[in-house]
Formats: sequence, C-alpha cells, structure tokens
Amino acid sequence: MNAATVHVFGAGYVGLVTGACLARSGHDVTVLEIDASKLAALRDGRSPFFEPGLTEIMAQAQADGRLRFAHTDDAGTLGEFIFVAVGTPMTQGGAADLRAVRQVVGLLQDNAPPDSVVVMKSTVPPGTGSGLAAKLAERGIGYVSNPEFLREGTAIEDWYSTDRIVLGGEATNLDRVAALYADIDAPVVRASIPAAELVKYASNAFLATKISFINEIAAVCDVVGADVTQVAAAVGMDHRIGSSFLRAGVGYGGSCFPKDTQALDFLSAFNGYDFHLLKAVIEVNARQRMLPVKALRTRLGPLPGRRVAVLGSAFKPDTDDTRESPGLDIVRLLLAEGAEVACYDPVAKPVLDDPSFMLCDSLDDALAGAEGAVLATEWPEFIGADWGRLTGLMAPPRVVFDGRNVLDPAPILAAGGVLIAVGRPV
Ligand code: UGA
Repeated sequence: MNAATVHVFGAGYVGLVTGACLARSGHDVTVLEIDASKLAALRDGRSPFFEPGLTEIMAQAQADGRLRFAHTDDAGTLGEFIFVAVGTPMTQGGAADLRAVRQVVGLLQDNAPPDSVVVMKSTVPPGTGSGLAAKLAERGIGYVSNPEFLREGTAIEDWYSTDRIVLGGEATNLDRVAALYADIDAPVVRASIPAAELVKYASNAFLATKISFINEIAAVCDVVGADVTQVAAAVGMDHRIGSSFLRAGVGYGGSCFPKDTQALDFLSAFNGYDFHLLKAVIEVNARQRMLPVKALRTRLGPLPGRRVAVLGSAFKPDTDDTRESPGLDIVRLLLAEGAEVACYDPVAKPVLDDPSFMLCDSLDDALAGAEGAVLATEWPEFIGADWGRLTGLMAPPRVVFDGRNVLDPAPILAAGGVLIAVGRPV
C-alpha cells in the first residue's frame, strides 16, 4: 500500500481513532487539535477519553514516527488528504451545529494544496457537503463524504472489521480515498455526496428504531406477561431482522443516536416533511428513562429524602462518555423528585452540582442503605456482582430496577429484595 500524508482536524473520538488507525496502516499522520490541554496529553501518549486499545496503537505509531500532534494554528503545509473530524453537536432546536465544520472548511479553502482531498468524517446533514465541495473545487481541492460507523468501546475493532466503507463524491477522488483503506477487507460503497451523508443518518436512525421498537414490545410483554428477552431472541433469529440492537432497557444514549435522530427529524421538518416514525422513536426513548422512576415511586411512595442508588452513568459499558446517558437522565429525574441519589460507575465520574447527589467509589457504597436501586448501564462488574450480598446491604423494601435486563432474579429475591425489569415478569 502507498503511504500517504494525512492531516486530521479534531482529536475527538472520531478524529483520534481515524488518525491512530491510518498511522497504524502506514500513513504519515498529523492530528490537529485546538485545545491546548488535550494536545499536551496526546503528545504525552495519553488519550483524552477511554477507548480500549487506542493508547497502545497511538504509542506504537508515535514511536514509529508516523503519528504526530500539532495545534491547529501550527498546521504547516497540509498533506494530500485532509480529514475533518470536528464535532457537530445538537443545537437547542435539534439541528446539527455546523460552525466548527464550516470554520475548518473555510480554512482549507485558503490553505489546502490544490489536488488535495478533503475527507468529511464529521456527521453533517445531507445537503451540506455538496455546497462545501463546490467551494473547494474552485481551487482544485477534492471533497469526499466518508461517514464513520465506529461504536465507542469497540472503535478499533469496528475500524478494521467494518461492514462497509462508504464514500460519496466524484469518482477520481473516491478512488484516491479508497486506496487509503487498502488494508481493510470491506466492500467500498461509492455514492453521491448527499447519499453518503444520508447513509450515516439512516443507519443510526434505523438502529435507534430497532431499540425503541423492542422497548415498545417490552411494554406489550408487561401487559401480556411475556419475557421480552425470549421474544427478542426468537425474533432476532430471523436473518431478515437480525439479533443486534434488540435489547430492551432504559433506552439509547451517547453522542450519536440522540443527536442524529433529532437532526434527521429537524432536517425533515425544516424541509416540509413530517417524519412520523422517527418522532415516535425519539418519544419512546425519552419514556424509557421514566420507567425506573415511576416504578420506584410506586414501590417506595413519595421519593423526597429517600436514598436511591443509580448504577452506571456512562451511556454504555466500556466508555467513560456520559453524553445523553440514560443513567444520568435517571439521576436528574430522581433528584427532581427529591430523592437522595448515590451514583456509582466503574469509569465515568460525573460532577453534578446538587447537594442530594453523591458520587460513590463502589457498588457497596452506593447500595448501602439505599431503599431503591437502578441499574442503568450493563457493566460486567454489575452483572458479575454478588447480588444476594448487595441486596442485603440495602434498606427495605430493597427494590432493584434492572434497566438492562441483565440480573439474575434468584439471589435478589432470596435476600428479601424486589426485582423489576423491562418487559420481563419476575
Ligand atoms: C453508534 C453506532 O452504533 C455506530 O455505528 C456509529 O458510528 C456511532 O453511533 C456514531 O454515530 O458515531 P455508539 O453511540 O458508540 O455507536 O453506541 P452503540 O453501541 O450503538 O449504543 C448506543 C446506545 O444504544 C447505548 O446507550 C446502548 O446502551 C443503547 N442500546 C444498544 C440499547 O439500548 N439496546 C440495544 O440493543 C443496543
């Protein structure tokens, strides 16, 4: 494979994984970051976030001289490929905030070498890239939309064993970008820029739909007395449906599904189309967070002054990311009800400015004296814990809400506790 010179704008989650993996593949990579403290950590070989396997790849690539970090202002002469991986957070109205993307592309319009290719990794709403591409083309700079499908916690694995590489743009540019990924054994899908952009939104929206769908089925399970895990297992065996993303629980979170579903809904509405199904997906997801709070209120009575443990503030296991985390939303709902909340997560350490919020160092600390508990993230530490002993540490009536359907009821019930799950009669 021919080694290329690559610059990556943004050392966030996507940019850093992209930079590290391209360097590991043999390319000469400089990752550019605007935040000085982040930059210092990166130069020191430390990742600003927790992602299994990433620091090892960074260290090796830095030692081999293929991965460097620089401040955006000191970018110097840019390389043949310039990846844009800056954030596109959600605005108040649900639209994607494209200011950082526009700023970088503006800079590239003046500074990227003619004949270079700008590769858009940031998730931008369909329709964005064509305009950017036209402006860059005025100076002979190419543009390719190349959405990412990395899951936090398994990003490295997802990079190398992706189901597809999606590239949107003009054929010659697509060929050049495809060559960067020559060591990855995956089909390359060539499309137009808006189609590539929409693939990203449609993929995330569909996965979110699967989750909300199974959460709706869980509600029906509660009505008819069926176990949603049995239903999902059999439904998922139909290869047309597939078994993944059919785990019922307190809903999806993270920096992607909530943001991308809202942005797609906004984009549709803004252009006069009412995306009914997506609205329902978002609404069901918000409702799932309320389930544990409602269940605890029913079992414990009014919550003011009652101690409740929330286990898991990361939006899923194997990450310290708490963005749009179901666990933290549940914490906030409980605090709003007046409860005293004792929160424990093995990795994430959120700071909340509320005297009724306690951050605990262990499961024992969080559960000791709590009348209720909500498991919001399926960390292995929670699943493998001795729930007979832990239930014994709680105060009566010892109500455990299993928000991820992962706990064995037997030890909890034997210790005098009550277990409530999502669509699962116990
Ligand atoms: C997601 C997509 O899976 C990636 O393909 C995509 O690249 C990424 O967003 C992105 O847009 O950058 P991620 O947000 O890291 O990845 O996490 P997922 O593993 O997809 O989980 C998202 C949420 O759904 C988590 O809160 C998880 O607990 C929840 N979930 C997942 C369920 O509630 N049930 C399930 O069956 C599966």
